[in-house]
Amino acid sequence: MTIFTLLSTGLSTQVQAKTWATLNGQPPIVIGHRGLAGYFPDHTLAGYERAAELGADFIEPDLVSTKDGVLIARHEPNLKDTTDISERPEFAAYKRVEHVDGKDEEGWFACDLTLAQIKTLRAKQPRADRDPQYNGQFEIPTFEEILQLRERVSKKLGREIGVYPETKHPTWHQEKGLPLEAKLVALLSTYHLNRADAPVYIQSFELTNLRVLKQLSPVKRIYLIDGDDVLADGTVTSGRPYDFVKKGDPRKYNEMMSDANLKEIAQVAQGIGPWKVYIDSYVTDASGIKTRIPATDVVKRAHAAGLALHPFTFRNEAKHLTDTDAGDPYNEYALFFDLGVDGVFSDYTDTAVAARARMSKD
Ligand code: G3P
Ligand code: CA
Repeated sequence: MTIFTLLSTGLSTQVQAKTWATLNGQPPIVIGHRGLAGYFPDHTLAGYERAAELGADFIEPDLVSTKDGVLIARHEPNLKDTTDISERPEFAAYKRVEHVDGKDEEGWFACDLTLAQIKTLRAKQPRADRDPQYNGQFEIPTFEEILQLRERVSKKLGREIGVYPETKHPTWHQEKGLPLEAKLVALLSTYHLNRADAPVYIQSFELTNLRVLKQLSPVKRIYLIDGDDVLADGTVTSGRPYDFVKKGDPRKYNEMMSDANLKEIAQVAQGIGPWKVYIDSYVTDASGIKTRIPATDVVKRAHAAGLALHPFTFRNEAKHLTDTDAGDPYNEYALFFDLGVDGVFSDYTDTAVAARARMSKD
């Protein structure tokens, strides 16, 4: 795991660059997950900018559509947890139940509201254990505003900040008459990013719309592989992608890393974004102690299929670590970097960047 090895023989000193076990031999990328989610509410321009300042290589907007077809950055179409809409009486009549990917949800949905209406809302921290100090301060950004910020911040920092948009619930959006794909590609074109070598990855939990995107754009694509739970013995459970449900394809997410399925994914995408426990899981004993188990061979087999791996999501809080990590998120990053992952989605860009730098010096 040494990045620079200093060999002092008394006669000579040799400095050797670290060899990373990534697909391209380069250091893994750090993706500012939902901006800088550890410190700011998800998906705010301030969070994206701060993540870039702290060293993120990419900023990550999740995209949903407004009623008038504008792409905005929200983790869910339901605005109840990430905005102040529940406290705004003028929106009370919009509260309803929507069927999203086969499940009923109650709340206020972006597809019912125009961008002008959504712009009156303010973002809020959805997690009770994170700092709420920025609640009420920031607008909900459009994807176009994020692309403009990316240009400005890249110039300010003197390095190219990448953008890593995720099409959220693409089949559901299609069913609502608000497809995401063409609008996403049109905006990438407007900002000179619709090219294979652009600092862009498009990600999706559905292969079907990645196939559509492959037809629409040469931009790199990442297939996300979700999971539901980790059982006491370390087994990862999962459901089925919603596009597979609609098509009658019986495969679950946790089957998508077989060699045959990786081969199929490699026809559509340049990489996978698996839940991190598919790479290294843990067992839980009767007292709740979580102990890591040996890593799977997913990194090796995905690389053999020509696929990069960008696992999600790395978080500093103790409850998101195992006992093997001893309360230090560095230990988790070091484990995954040693295994050869090509990038990490992190809520704490500063920690991920520091871990990568520390491994470069160990
Ligand atoms: O997109 C990778 C990661 O963000 C997936 O998880 O649910 O935070 O979008 P989610
Ligand atoms: Ca995401």
